[in-house]
Amino acid sequence: MLSGSAWGDRFAGGDPLAAGVSVTRTERQVPSERHRPVLVVDLGAQYAQLIARRVRQAGVFSRIVPHTVGADEVMAHRPLGMILSGGPLSVYTENAYLVDRQLFGLGVPILGICYGHQLLASMLGGTVKRTGDAEYGRTELTVTGASRLLEGTPQHQNVWMSHADAVTETPPGFERVATTGGSPVAAMEDRERGMYGVQFHPEVIHTDHGSAVIEGFLRSACQAPPSWTRGSIIADQIEAVRARVGDARAICGLSGGVDSSVAAALVHRAIGDRLTCVFVDHGLLREGEASQVTETFGRYFQMDLVHVDASGRFLGALSGVTDPEAKRTIIGEMFIRTFEEATGDIPDARFLVQGTLYPDVIESGGGAAATIKTHHNVGGLPPDLGFELVEPLRDLFKDEVRAIGKELGLPDEIVWRQPFPGPGLAVRITGEVTRERLDVLRAADAIVTEEIHRADLYREIWQSFAVLPAVKTVGVQGDGRTYAHALIVRAVTSEDAMTADFARIPYPVLERIASRVMNEVPGVNRVAYDISSKPPATIEWE
Ligand code: XMP
Repeated sequence: MLSGSAWGDRFAGGDPLAAGVSVTRTERQVPSERHRPVLVVDLGAQYAQLIARRVRQAGVFSRIVPHTVGADEVMAHRPLGMILSGGPLSVYTENAYLVDRQLFGLGVPILGICYGHQLLASMLGGTVKRTGDAEYGRTELTVTGASRLLEGTPQHQNVWMSHADAVTETPPGFERVATTGGSPVAAMEDRERGMYGVQFHPEVIHTDHGSAVIEGFLRSACQAPPSWTRGSIIADQIEAVRARVGDARAICGLSGGVDSSVAAALVHRAIGDRLTCVFVDHGLLREGEASQVTETFGRYFQMDLVHVDASGRFLGALSGVTDPEAKRTIIGEMFIRTFEEATGDIPDARFLVQGTLYPDVIESGGGAAATIKTHHNVGGLPPDLGFELVEPLRDLFKDEVRAIGKELGLPDEIVWRQPFPGPGLAVRITGEVTRERLDVLRAADAIVTEEIHRADLYREIWQSFAVLPAVKTVGVQGDGRTYAHALIVRAVTSEDAMTADFARIPYPVLERIASRVMNEVPGVNRVAYDISSKPPATIEWE
């Protein structure tokens, strides 16, 4: 976890993006007067998002732009500064990513990190070489001269390195301010022109004074005030939602997940009763989930909430169906139809609130038009329902969404909820989905969740849940043999759901889960732990 360190606690937590699924459109971004951004120029997607989050954690709005960005586009953002990210390439290879040379003449302060540092050096007349002294991991840095970015940090300090090439000579106008064994110029500054480069990664927590370096750049070089706070984000979004929706009505499909919940709470703050939330209960939810949604949104927030209990309909349609794809299709289509029926008679409903997050809309890499997640979005809404979209979270990272949710008064159970698939428990039951099997799974799943919470593992695990396979096994209870359900426990760690590994849950926790499930859930006589990674397995069973 990257939160809760020296990085300040402006935004609690730091869970990466929950699995979602959307083909997103890019909208023209209007720079807010209050929140002029620092632009992170993406020279290798893996690094840019973390840098952008660090900038925000230091209280400054950030946006990610592709390395193909032109000077005009940069200026349209009215940026306070620019950060050139790290990247996997070498500056002197033929296909190396470059940036528009005009970016260096805009008078906007620039910080180059790792590859960005080398790019600054090579494009401005310094020298980058493969010295043969690659540095990976913790490395001792020595500050050799007066530095704006390293001011106030010790002369000898640990930084995190990951590079094979090194800057060996500074470009004209730059001064070397730090060095390491393998990097003759580990940090350089041209304070006059406002350009800075560091070979190490200040954005990772293993760099002892990384936050100071980023803060130094933001405050001393960019003069950026720490104004990106929960309160100001909420205030801005309320204003923007009001301006967009005007006197019309908006509807929001609530799933109980964090994104749609925070989006709903925010829009409700903005337009009150002119928001109608629609919660379609397909009967495939976890224990207590439906009542929590109605309690939170209907009772506590007093929202106009339409609760559609469609469980009978969904279960009827799923009766006898065992093929995973057939189940998904039935659920997906029925979900949309049910939502349409429920919203058809809401007068003046022109807008649809969606919980799209920033990672879904970032343009990155080699200038690709938009990030498109290929994952199936069963249980969500298609973009062509005929509404105009309101997406109040489309500038925000997941950790910011959680922080705002908390600020808006949402309970921890919602703010910290692990991702849950649209088709719900149906993808965790192999074979036919019946009421009886759902009851078994729900009871076992509640125990898994409770014990994972009790072991204080819930937040660091990406998803943890129970699966009911179409398998019965022989057991023994008292004097007799049983023939009952086997139950699978699945828990994974992941950054983005694209890859995952099984969570190394301590044996005593697994033991407690197994023993409770077998004792408390009638019809289960065996519990197994799924130790598959993704790939080749997937997180869900179907
Ligand atoms: P898999 O099983 O493909 O899941 O490894 C990756 C992530 O996506 C979630 N998931 C879904 N989410 N609708 C959703 O909204 C779906 O149809 C769906 N299928 C899987 C899954 O829980 C995991 O986080």
